Parts: sequence; structure tokens; C-alpha cells
Amino acid sequence: MGEHKCIGILTSGGDCAGLNAVIRAVVYRAVGKYNWKVLGIRQATNGLMSRPPQGIPLDIEKVDSWLTIGGTMLGTTNEGNPFAYPMSDGTLRDRSEEIIEGYHQLGLDALIGIGGDGSLTILRKIAQQGNLNLVGIPKTIDNDVGITERAIGFDTAVNIATEALDRLHFTAASHSRVMILEVMGRDAGHIAISAGIAGGADVILIPEIPYKMTNICAKIKEGQDRGKNYCLIVVAEAVRTEAGEQVIQTNRLGQRRLGGIGQYLADTISDCRGIETRVAVLGHIQRGGTPSPLERVIASAFGVAAVDLIAEGKFDRMVSWQQREVRNVPLEDAISKYRAVEPDDTLVKTARGLGICLGD
Ligand code: F6P
Repeated sequence: MGEHKCIGILTSGGDCAGLNAVIRAVVYRAVGKYNWKVLGIRQATNGLMSRPPQGIPLDIEKVDSWLTIGGTMLGTTNEGNPFAYPMSDGTLRDRSEEIIEGYHQLGLDALIGIGGDGSLTILRKIAQQGNLNLVGIPKTIDNDVGITERAIGFDTAVNIATEALDRLHFTAASHSRVMILEVMGRDAGHIAISAGIAGGADVILIPEIPYKMTNICAKIKEGQDRGKNYCLIVVAEAVRTEAGEQVIQTNRLGQRRLGGIGQYLADTISDCRGIETRVAVLGHIQRGGTPSPLERVIASAFGVAAVDLIAEGKFDRMVSWQQREVRNVPLEDAISKYRAVEPDDTLVKTARGLGICLGD
């Protein structure tokens, strides 16, 4: 690699708050410190598949105002695995070689990929195949990427879910109701447990801890016996029915998405306690909006560190947040060590210590 490098950056998978703050930090560091050229790749790996490949030159002036903007200015997708890409004729095609070719056509010396475990796994496979210089930055509101305490998007999502609980609190108390907040998180309960503690929930249900309806109903009764006329429940979307079935919504195209566990709980609670119960499903509201201050700090730290890794010639690595420090870890380890909420997690202990019912 020569002195004057050209690096690419792309965002892949679901959007979230803080992505533009990462891109801004990458450009500040790459241009400001090393005088490199930065190309923003459009629509994740789709931009490298396109002909000509879609790389937008990014300079400090262009990204200056991006710190607080939600979503991703580069666009993204969580559809279309490049190894089995759905073509318009209905067939699936392996388009990984086109991506590798696109990287070379843009004259990239290295690529920064911002993604969750799924996207980072795909990007790594492509990089290995084409011998490309890849550095990963963890991103997902689910916070389930291995070996990092924080992924971009998580803190903002927790703030939004907490604010939702703060609001539901008043309606729950005013109407003497059970209010259920269904939050995202796919297979992990990180958002639910953090927001549940921060928002003063009475019950927090996460996929990692199986629950019994009798325990939830007993918790509501215990509150009523103490004179508390309402109950706040947070449930992660991937929590199953008591019988262990996934709750899925299927749209008319046959696509399946998690969702509906809140309503299942509401119906069952109404049966067991006869108390009025309502459900709010937060959905994509958790992904949008202005990044929280902590999000901006971590995004900035990750962006700077990722560029410095490239400068040091360290590839196939991911930046990681550990004990308020940015470290870097082998990408392979990060994607192979899925991070669920562990039974002895400090937040699980905290919730139990506060008397919050975790359903078990
Ligand atoms: O992985 C992030 C996430 O927001 C999950 O929490 C959620 O299940 C999923 O993405 C939703 O994906 P989509 O944007 O495709 O509906």
C-alpha cells in the first residue's frame, strides 16, 4: 500500500443511530491525520456490485454535520446475501467476485465495514476470498456482537425504550392497568433488560430466561396487595410463548418477522388477573433518531480507532469497546462468539436485586 491510501467505508444490515457519527470520525481521522481519500460505498455491498461501483468521495466539509443525523447517509440493506443474491429472474447467484472486483475498480487499499454479526460474517468471507483489507466496526441495536460491550445503536435504542416506559408509566398508573412494552433485540435481551431497569419495570422478559405465566401473575398480584394499582412489563420480541413457540408475523409476501409476544402476554394476563392490559410495540422507533451522547462518543472512538488500525496495517480485526477502552480483536472471534445476556450478567443480578420479576 502506498502513502496516499484510498479507503472505503460501508454500512450494512439494519440502520441505527450513530452510523453517520462513525463515518464522520473515519473521515476526520483518515483525511485530517493521514491525508487519505475516503469513499463512502452506497447501499452496503450492493454499491460494490454495481457497475460502475458506487463510491462517493467524502471529505471533512461533507461529513461535518453528520454527527447528529440518524440512519445512514450511505444507505444500507439487510436483504440479499451476496453469496446467494436474489436475481430478478428468481434465481440466486453468488455475486461475491463482483464485490471483490468492485473494490479493485474503486482502487481501495482497505475497507471499513460497519455491521452486526451477520453482515460482518459475510464481509469477512468476501475479504478472505479476495484477500481484501477489512476492518470491522460493530453495529446493532441488539448489542449481540461478540467481544464488545457496546455496538453502535444500542445506547440510543435503550434511551428510546426507556423514554417509552417513562411515558407508559403515567398511563398505567392513571388507568390502573398493566402496560406491556415490546422491544426489539432479535435473539438477545440486552435492550429489554437495560431499558427495563432504567425505566422502573416490574417485569422484564428476555429470551435467555424462560418464564412461567404464574410467576408474572403472582408479581402483579403482589403489587396489587401492596396497593400498587399498575404494572409495567418489558418484553423482548424474541421471547416465546410459555409453550416455547416463537411469535411471528407473516406478511402477504410470506416474509416472517418477530412480533406479537406482547399481545400474547396481554391476553394471558387478562385471563389470569382480570386486569385491563394494553400493549405498545416500539418497533423501528428504536432504530431511528438522534444518537445519544454516549453513542456519539463510542462512534467517534470506533471511527478513529478503525482508521488507525488500517494505518498500522492490521486487518481482519474489529474495534471493540471493553472497560471504557477501545481495543481491537480478531474479527473471526467477534463473529463466532455471539453475545447473549448471561444468567450471571450484572444486570440480571441487579434486576433480581431490585425485586424485578424475570419470569422464572
Ligand atoms: O437486528 C436489528 C433489528 O432491529 C432487530 O432488533 C429486529 O428484529 C430486526 O432488526 C428488524 O429488521 P427489519 O428492519 O428488517 O424489520
